[in-house]
Amino acid sequence: MVRHLAIIMDGNGRWAKERFRPRIFGHQEGAKKIEDITKHCAKIGVEYLSLYAFSTENWKRPKNEVDFLMDLLSKYLKEKRDLYINFNIAFRVIGDISVFSASLQDSIRELESITQNNAKMTQILALNYGFRDEIRRAFIKMQNDSCNKITEYTIQSYLDTSNFPDVDMLVRTGGECRLSNFLLWQSSYAELFFSNTLWPDFGVDELDSMILDFSKRERKFGGILE
Ligand code: FPP
Repeated sequence: MVRHLAIIMDGNGRWAKERFRPRIFGHQEGAKKIEDITKHCAKIGVEYLSLYAFSTENWKRPKNEVDFLMDLLSKYLKEKRDLYINFNIAFRVIGDISVFSASLQDSIRELESITQNNAKMTQILALNYGFRDEIRRAFIKMQNDSCNKITEYTIQSYLDTSNFPDVDMLVRTGGECRLSNFLLWQSSYAELFFSNTLWPDFGVDELDSMILDFSKRERKFGGILE
């Protein structure tokens, strides 16, 4: 079974364009899709679900799109409280949220806090996240702690994901075959899956068939099979 599933939710803009609608409409539909996928993952026994919602590079987008995404996130955090509570799912954020508005930071911290003991699954939302920035922040923290014994374990313990296991399976929707700075350390041995489906059209059936494929792959972690 997949313990940690990571998803790069790509294709919202193209989904909207195909319907002659503004890109933001695609994000709105994309945000709705998160609930179905999250519930399904909890049901089938995924323990950690990481979702790339806003990258450190996404600030380059037009201001109206960035503002819309921030508003959407703020509404999402309010509207989806019950999803996390009723389905016993812990909500966690990775990335540098210190640049977000104070009220957005408060909503994030509040949802993390009220769901912290939820044990069915942990959903990790990557917000203002990029792996290069995560490792840069980790190095600064290590320097501040005068940490001079640098092992893989120490580096791991300074990452935003220090409390989570490595990614087992990484899915990217939207037809591009790249990792775009998402959980690069954590996905070192992840099985990769790329789908042409645009994120708002991605469904549980396609995810299930990927998971079936995952279960048939031989994971060697650099060793050999006995
Ligand atoms: C990529 O689509 C998608 C993102 C920028 C991040 C994903 C965002 C969401 C699913 C919605 C917001 C999430 C929350 C939690 C409120 P794209 O715009 O790059 O699509 P394109 O490649 O077709 O242009």
